Amino acid sequence: MPVNIAIDGPAGAGKSTAAKAAAKALGFIYVDTGALYRSVAYYVLSKGADCKNAAEVVPLLSEITPELKFIDGTQRVFLNGEDVSDRIRTPEISMGASAVSAIPEVRSFLFDLQRKIAAENNVIMDGRDIGTVVLPNADLKIFFTASPEERARRRHNELTEKGECVTFASVLAEVNERDYNDSHREIAPLKQAEDAVLCDNTDLNLEQSVEKVISMIKETISRKGLDI
Ligand code: DC
Repeated sequence: MPVNIAIDGPAGAGKSTAAKAAAKALGFIYVDTGALYRSVAYYVLSKGADCKNAAEVVPLLSEITPELKFIDGTQRVFLNGEDVSDRIRTPEISMGASAVSAIPEVRSFLFDLQRKIAAENNVIMDGRDIGTVVLPNADLKIFFTASPEERARRRHNELTEKGECVTFASVLAEVNERDYNDSHREIAPLKQAEDAVLCDNTDLNLEQSVEKVISMIKETISRKGLDI
C-alpha cells in the first residue's frame, strides 16, 4: 500500500514549499492539487467565461483534459496536452481557481485524478480538502497554517522577486478573500480534519518548517511500520 500524506491549509501557508522539500528528501511524489483548480480557471478565463458562474463553467469541463506529469520528481500540469504550469501562477488565476473550486461539478471532475495518483504512489498531497475528502484514510494529515499577515508577506516577496508589481495591501486583501471563499464554500470547505496535526509555522523559517514536516512524516512511518 502506498504511503499517503495529506497537507491542507490556507493560501500562502508554505504548504507547497515544505511538501516539495519533504517529498524530495523522502523520495515521495509531491502533488499540488491547487494546480488542477488553477488549470480549470485558466481555461475558463481563456474562453472569456466567468469563473464564479457555474452555468458558464460546467459546460466547459467536457472540453478539458487535465493531467499531472512528474518530470524528475517535479510536477507539471498539462491542459489538453499543453504544459500550463508556469502560466497558472498569477493573482487573477488564484482568484479564479478559488471561485471555480466552489462549484461541486468542478470538484468531482478533479477528484478521480487525485485519488488515482495517491493509490499508485507514495505521495505528499497538498490542497484544502485532502485530509477531509480526497484522502480521508491518509497515513498522516497535517494542517499547515500561519497568520494572514505572515502569509501575505511571504506571497508579496515571492511575487516581487518574480518582478510583479503588487502592493502588500493588495496581497493581504487577496489572502483574506481567498481564505474566506475557501473556508465558507458549501462543498469541501477548507478546514482542519479532526485527526490532522496542526502545524502553525508563523514563527518558523523555511528550513524549520521543512524539518518539522519531514520529522512528522518519519515519525509516522516508523510508528506505523509503513513500508516505503
Ligand atoms: O493551493 P493553491 O493556492 O494553488 O489553490 C488555488 C485554489 O484552488 C484555492 O484558492 C482553492 C482551490 N483548491 C481547492 O479548493 N482544493 C484543493 N484541494 C486545492 C485547491
